[in-house]
Amino acid sequence: MKVWLLGILIVAAYAKHEEYDGWTSYYVVPYDFDQLEAFNFVVQKYDLDVYGHPAIKREGLVLVDPANKKNFTDALEELGIKYRIHTEDMKTHLNLEDQMFTDKVSASPSRIGGRLPYNQYQSVEAIHKYMDDVAAAHPNIARVVTPTNSFHGQPIKYMRISTTNFQDSRKPVIFLDGGMHGREWLSIPPVTYAINQLVENVTDPTLLSRFDWILLPIVNPDGYRFSRQGSVTWRKSRSIVPGNQWSLMCPGVDIDRNFDFVWNTIGTSDNLCSYVYPGERPFSEVEARVVRDILHQHRNILMYISFSSFGSFIMYPWAFDGSLSEHAFRQHAVGISMADAINAAKHPNFLNYRVGNAGLIRGSGMAGTSVDYAHSVGVPLAYSIELPGLFGGYWMDPIWIEQIVIETWEGVKAGARRALATN
Ligand SMILES: *[C@@H]1O[C@H](CO)[C@@H](O)[C@H](O)[C@H]1NC(C)=O
Ligand SMILES: *[C@@H]1O[C@H](CO)[C@@H](O)[C@H](O)[C@H]1NC(C)=O
Repeated sequence: MKVWLLGILIVAAYAKHEEYDGWTSYYVVPYDFDQLEAFNFVVQKYDLDVYGHPAIKREGLVLVDPANKKNFTDALEELGIKYRIHTEDMKTHLNLEDQMFTDKVSASPSRIGGRLPYNQYQSVEAIHKYMDDVAAAHPNIARVVTPTNSFHGQPIKYMRISTTNFQDSRKPVIFLDGGMHGREWLSIPPVTYAINQLVENVTDPTLLSRFDWILLPIVNPDGYRFSRQGSVTWRKSRSIVPGNQWSLMCPGVDIDRNFDFVWNTIGTSDNLCSYVYPGERPFSEVEARVVRDILHQHRNILMYISFSSFGSFIMYPWAFDGSLSEHAFRQHAVGISMADAINAAKHPNFLNYRVGNAGLIRGSGMAGTSVDYAHSVGVPLAYSIELPGLFGGYWMDPIWIEQIVIETWEGVKAGARRALATN
């Protein structure tokens, strides 16, 4: 009886976002590169969770726990960095968002089977079922591969799309992924929309005659599912290191810091509870290993794009130190083509995309990212595309999904054509 009651209390407390009691989120906008670097230093010092990265004269969003609030705002004031409150009390705000979320989801639940709608974020199961259905209906060009399962046993699935079964070595491969961070729900639909446009509703057959495609919509199904179940701000995987008590309290690894390229040297934290914890060792996470194995199995990948959110940025290597690779000119040219195409098709409420080196746009290095890793193993064009964000709340209203997948696909198409032209 008592145990039963305790269980109810824990569930109730959990559902009400107690962990965010007294937390505040702030918009921050650095005025120049010095301020941006100084902001990153403050973030690192207090190990803060950056929800949307600021850039020069572009607002970002950072979550601050009660113990660090005063120090954080004092530091920004001393540095002359402009900030304003996004939500005074995250707990209350998240509870309001839960209500909105519940209302919208019950109005239009995940569709299992048939065409995937873009008026709602879909469950892991609905997306995987969609991929299986597309492959079953188009066996001559589409195949689903399930290389392995996530830490908690959910399948990780990707789609191989080719009119020549990946046998024509003249056709370069384009690899898109999304859902590396659990909370970045918006990063998944652009990848499933690519499946739609390449297989179900083909408006440009040259995309199939000239390229082969690999589409991995949900790299981190455990993080995505956990985020959807109520912990909307969850970013990492959900893995636990056996025998490590800290790991039970603070599970998970930032998948996009777990790749074996200058791993854990900058922009990460050895604190297991940190939102940028890079893992015990490179490729400790099965979710990162799936991406690695795709990169290694296909020697002909011309372009890799990892979708994330938020910020309206198209960023290329090297992320770890802000230096340029020998492909920088081409990376920039193809990036500009993508940005131009998206900017021309985008919703007027969204910011224009910025294109640049990841380390320079962010004003800080990030070690162990998938994009740097892809480039280091020979993918000439590797991008992190941060999709638009309105920062109304933590949860991006699904009314924007359809617009975003359409405009983003314009960018991918333009990027593919330009990549080929410069090949
Ligand atoms: C925050 O500021 C207080 C008072 O100035 C100081 O004692 C404390 O050490 C600071 N915390 C950190 C993490 O630097
Ligand atoms: C097919 O895609 C185009 C955009 O590429 C869109 O305008 C059209 O409505 C789509 N058709 C169907 C049946 O979904």
